[in-house]
Amino acid sequence: MTAPKKLFIKTYGCQMNVYDSERMAEALGGQGYTEAKSADEADMILLNTCHIREKAAEKVYSELGRFKKLKAQKPDLKIGVAGCVAQAEGEEIMRRQPLVDLVVGPQSYHRLPEMEEKAQTGEKVLDTDFPEEDKFEQLKRRPKAKRGPAAFLTVQEGCDKFCAFCVVPYTRGAEVSRPADRILTEARDLVERGVREITLLGQNVNAYHGAGPNGDLTLAQLIWELDKVDGLERIRFTTSHPNDMMDDLIEAHGTCKKLMPYLHLPVQAGSDKILKRMNRSHTAESYLRLIERIRAARPDILISGDFIVGFPEETDEDFQATLDLVEEVKYGTAYSFKYSTRPGTPAAERPQVDPVEADDRLQRLQALLTRQQREIQDSMVGREVGVLFEKPGRLEGQMLGKSDYLHAVHVADCDRQIGDLARVRIVSSRTNSLAGELIE
Ligand code: SAH
Ligand code: SF4
Ligand code: F3S
Repeated sequence: MTAPKKLFIKTYGCQMNVYDSERMAEALGGQGYTEAKSADEADMILLNTCHIREKAAEKVYSELGRFKKLKAQKPDLKIGVAGCVAQAEGEEIMRRQPLVDLVVGPQSYHRLPEMEEKAQTGEKVLDTDFPEEDKFEQLKRRPKAKRGPAAFLTVQEGCDKFCAFCVVPYTRGAEVSRPADRILTEARDLVERGVREITLLGQNVNAYHGAGPNGDLTLAQLIWELDKVDGLERIRFTTSHPNDMMDDLIEAHGTCKKLMPYLHLPVQAGSDKILKRMNRSHTAESYLRLIERIRAARPDILISGDFIVGFPEETDEDFQATLDLVEEVKYGTAYSFKYSTRPGTPAAERPQVDPVEADDRLQRLQALLTRQQREIQDSMVGREVGVLFEKPGRLEGQMLGKSDYLHAVHVADCDRQIGDLARVRIVSSRTNSLAGELIE
């Protein structure tokens, strides 16, 4: 018998890529691949890439350059590029980096086994179609392998919003929701394999409208179906668009016990002029009122956000409006980025902001967001929270998990197992985590 081939996948970008990488590993598991611990020991290397900002895309080429030596030592090594850079720059990748054997776009992962076989014959293969068939249905599952207690589950993919700065509608295609029964089957399967928490994924997850037995389900209706799955203890979802935050979803935050008090709701900017030019179709005011309604349903909810600074034609006054909005919302966590020009998007054609000015704004925004994050984290001290343990900590006897609010929590002298959900009292707050004690 020949030794099993080894696969190394490196994942960049968003959680959807993390989920996709797992699916690709499963699909290639059917071809006899097992996981390699590093690129050095792999027979096949796959980069699952992100195209959202220029830096993310360029990383792929520098990473590929590093594989040159490896491929010279091991001529049979196959190198593939998957994900959003593959979709956006497929043929260019092959041209720029001849050591690439295989390029596969996000909607073609179910064709990967076939493509791998072709690549083994020495052929260069590229597939960046948007096929009709449901890739998730066709991706093979590894039977009942045990796994960690927190999992991602993609329920919706693609985006029809066309924000003026964003590549996602081009790299992931039009918005598509998976049928509810398939999601429920996958969720039950995950629970059987040890999963206690599922994060439902979609580029616009709250626009979910997958087919159910009596017509389409909203995201809230899907969450209520998942709520009935025995053994599933926690439900989260990401990422939401403010315009799709429906009443039933807001209400579910107040009434569904399994739905965790955390909401990632990107606003991007606080100036209505900029929001309009971003094609966001919400205003600062409508966003603030929405946050009010969500907090009325679930007062302790932790709000998370995304921001872009230095969007074309952003003035100091516009930027000040972003700071004002942040002051009003009080974010528990946030991701903030300097605007990155993406070829082919409408904003790329607009007058750009001076990069030094944009850097300065980013620093000011991040200082404010870090302060808020710190204050909210510190305010957890003394409170009782649920913690799902995910792995042992660095110290003997210590366990590490996530709170209901998604804070990292360490518990010392902890007799609980991975996958246990416990009540914990928070005793102190450190830079990036909380320390807690079990409540007996
Ligand atoms: N679907 C999600 C997020 C998509 S990308 C949503 O609608 O919010 C994640 C984040 O990357 C975005 O929220 C945005 O803040 C940031 N982003 C997207 N395009 C960008 C660009 N061209 N430059 C800088 N940041 C960008
Ligand atoms: Fe990109 Fe906007 Fe769609 Fe989010 S909603 S994925 S930012 S186009
Ligand atoms: Fe990046 Fe594609 Fe996700 S561009 S953020 S990997 S959808």
